[in-house]
Amino acid sequence: MSEQANAPTRGGVLIVDFGAQYCQLIARRVRELGVYSRITVPDRAELMLDAMQPDAIILSGGPCSVYANDAPVLSADVAKRGIPMLGICYGLQWLTQALGGEVTPASDGHEYGRTEIEHGGDSPLFDGVNARTTVWMSHGDRVANLPEGFVSIASSGPCPVAAAAHVEKRIYGLQFHPEVTHSEEGQQMLRNFVLGIAGCSADWQPGDIVERKVQAIRDQVGDTGEVVLGLSGGVDSSVAAVLIHRAIGDRLHCVFVDNGLLRQGEREGVESLFRDDYHMDVHVVDASERFLTQLAGVEDPEVKRKRIGHEFVEVFRECAKGYTSAHFLGQGTLYPDVIESVAAHGGATATIKSHHNVGGLPEDLELDLVEPLRDLFKDEVRAIGRELGLPSSLVDRQPFPGPGLAVRCLGEVNTTKLEPLRAADAIVRHEIESRGLQENLWQYFAVLLPVQSVGVMGDQRTYENACVIRIVSSDDAMTADWELLPTEVLRIISNRIINEVRGLNRVCLDISSKPPATIEWE
Ligand code: XMP
Repeated sequence: MSEQANAPTRGGVLIVDFGAQYCQLIARRVRELGVYSRITVPDRAELMLDAMQPDAIILSGGPCSVYANDAPVLSADVAKRGIPMLGICYGLQWLTQALGGEVTPASDGHEYGRTEIEHGGDSPLFDGVNARTTVWMSHGDRVANLPEGFVSIASSGPCPVAAAAHVEKRIYGLQFHPEVTHSEEGQQMLRNFVLGIAGCSADWQPGDIVERKVQAIRDQVGDTGEVVLGLSGGVDSSVAAVLIHRAIGDRLHCVFVDNGLLRQGEREGVESLFRDDYHMDVHVVDASERFLTQLAGVEDPEVKRKRIGHEFVEVFRECAKGYTSAHFLGQGTLYPDVIESVAAHGGATATIKSHHNVGGLPEDLELDLVEPLRDLFKDEVRAIGRELGLPSSLVDRQPFPGPGLAVRCLGEVNTTKLEPLRAADAIVRHEIESRGLQENLWQYFAVLLPVQSVGVMGDQRTYENACVIRIVSSDDAMTADWELLPTEVLRIISNRIINEVRGLNRVCLDISSKPPATIEWE
């Protein structure tokens, strides 16, 4: 095994996380400039500097004061290595203190929100930036005295050092957050630092790294190694599967578990794409009965989730054990799942989230992990998926929760309720997608309510279930807005559901935002 499929790339920008809310955003902004970036915690920074040999360092913001007892500790030697640095907010304050300047509480209160700053126009950090520009401030401390060799290069009304520089050493600091969109020309400042001052080359294009990934998988798995992978039909496991397949061909064995909670056509879609088009070895396990038995009589959403997760591990374990010659487990784990970050409260403890896409790794299988997407963000995985020729219907598909239709079938889950839900959901998806209305939508689906109401069809009284249509837009699922379709489309969806789906006689529209509601109903 010469190289891991997830080996770190050399060069690029190392971001040191001081507990910033926006640390991942900094990493993404740098990658948008075409430069590789990686996040680490302060106490691993020196190790990472040696391993990665970055072209530049960015120090993030953070919730602490540099003089607080629990402030994250970073060795001042980091600032003496001659590597170009940019400190953001707390990062600027850390630089100030580490290099002999002084940081104090802002006497007239902290600055928070949109603020106008003014710069002199002669710093390369502000090339192409308006002399007065709006930025996003969020700080309670400020730089009172700059270290030797530093000069202030921008100020705001209450803050004389809104930006500072040591030109020869190529060390810069910003008291505000260039990474958030509220800083109107923030990306230009990051561009000036990363590509201009630090001279990083813009050679990180996710689509271009396919061959490098393929080679790394070959190096890790060797000439005879076999990999077993849980294929869900989602973007991450699909892209991981196609990459691994390109590297080792039929030594990849995919397991697709039909848990009986899938949407209409999902299993057939996976079989036809991966088996027929990509000629991959896909083993479909029909475990619907097992899952439905586990869910019988269960109404509590969290118990549903736990039972489904547990059953998945059981089914996958049994199936994977059949592949006696496979010593590797393929997974579509993404970078946000493995980023080491300073705990949000600001303590310097490194919390490493270990998230397993297949719903909990069966550890006793003793398989080595092959995780080719481990250093990638979701939009980069999509770019690789496109490069690999995966269809847009898969690469750009709406998120679908792991517990599937179980969290959209309120109360107890059984076939009698799943069938109408599946049919109504298929109508919602078809009417939206056939008109191309999904472009700006995050998710659109049907939910089955365990509520019966009176209706009339022909001359007959009906007493049947209701369903809800949930359509939302969102950037990251943390918040979401409800969206309205054209009335005519809503009318067609409603007519079709009531006329075509047996067991439903009423269609409602969910007009709740998140928060306070959530996207899913359970
Ligand atoms: P909520 O309902 O919390 O959902 O607003 C946010 C996003 O997460 C998805 N979701 C899940 N995904 N397992 C998953 O893999 C789950 O248990 C789960 N619950 C919610 C949801 O579809 C939305 O995109």
